[in-house]
Amino acid sequence: MMPVRRDVHPHLPASRIGDWHVRGRHVTHFVNALSIFFPAGERFFIDSVRAYRDDVADPELKRAIAGFIGQEAMHTREHILYNKLMNDAGLPAAPLDRFVARVLNLMRRILPRSWQLAHTIALEHYTAMLAGGLLADPEQMGGSEPGYHQVWIWHALEETEHKGVAYDVWNTVMKPGLSRYLLRAFTMLTTTATFWAMVFVFHIRLVMADRECRNKLGGFLGAAKFLWGRPGVLRRMMPAWFDYFRPGFHPWDHDNRAQLARIEPLIAEIEANAARAGVSSRAPSVRAAA
Ligand SMILES: [Fe+2]
Ligand SMILES: [Fe+2]
Repeated sequence: MMPVRRDVHPHLPASRIGDWHVRGRHVTHFVNALSIFFPAGERFFIDSVRAYRDDVADPELKRAIAGFIGQEAMHTREHILYNKLMNDAGLPAAPLDRFVARVLNLMRRILPRSWQLAHTIALEHYTAMLAGGLLADPEQMGGSEPGYHQVWIWHALEETEHKGVAYDVWNTVMKPGLSRYLLRAFTMLTTTATFWAMVFVFHIRLVMADRECRNKLGGFLGAAKFLWGRPGVLRRMMPAWFDYFRPGFHPWDHDNRAQLARIEPLIAEIEANAARAGVSSRAPSVRAAA
């Protein structure tokens, strides 16, 4: 599977940043909370893979790393624009993004590069699990505002396309054996605890900053159903989460490459949607927008 960098820029109408999801504002803010992690998170992924690039000799894997870096850079760019819409609407995306960046910068300073890569493969497994669930279950987001729906489906497809890259780097550069396994398993446990704690807090912060829904606590019930109902975003992720602890695990053991046939039609849809709105599907410079 060779990831390809695609210069994609879905049109996100600013007026819908707080209620673009078909299931209402609480679920919208849950998904928006995930968006806040991407700019700093994906830069961390890029850096931790890049730190090992010279240790990889296989030309195929080198090309895959270049594709991986290109894709994550595009995701970062689009999520910076996405998160700016939250900020403009009075939602605290910027301080929360700075918090994520501070945590990750601390990890860059104190952790050896092998531990940084271990965090990257754990979080890449998270993005692959979330992406796989979203692609397999049209109910999760179908009927939502088209531009926001498109940005998430595009991101999910590319996360799927490159889900094996960081892991292949890990398998190439780390000596096989018990200590490699233990580091991978241990990091998944700590990542699970810290990542979901942060998502939970970010979700509450976004909801509480939104005048339209902060008093409607029943909305949290709808969000809980979205996450833990049937099938439920998190509930359906459980088998894949446990699978990560199998000693011989590889992301492509779950073969969902058939989904990737959706990429080209999706890009045509993104262009058509932007044209309908009378805007360009080319990204404005982030610097100009920031
Ligand atoms: Fe990404
Ligand atoms: Fe990724």
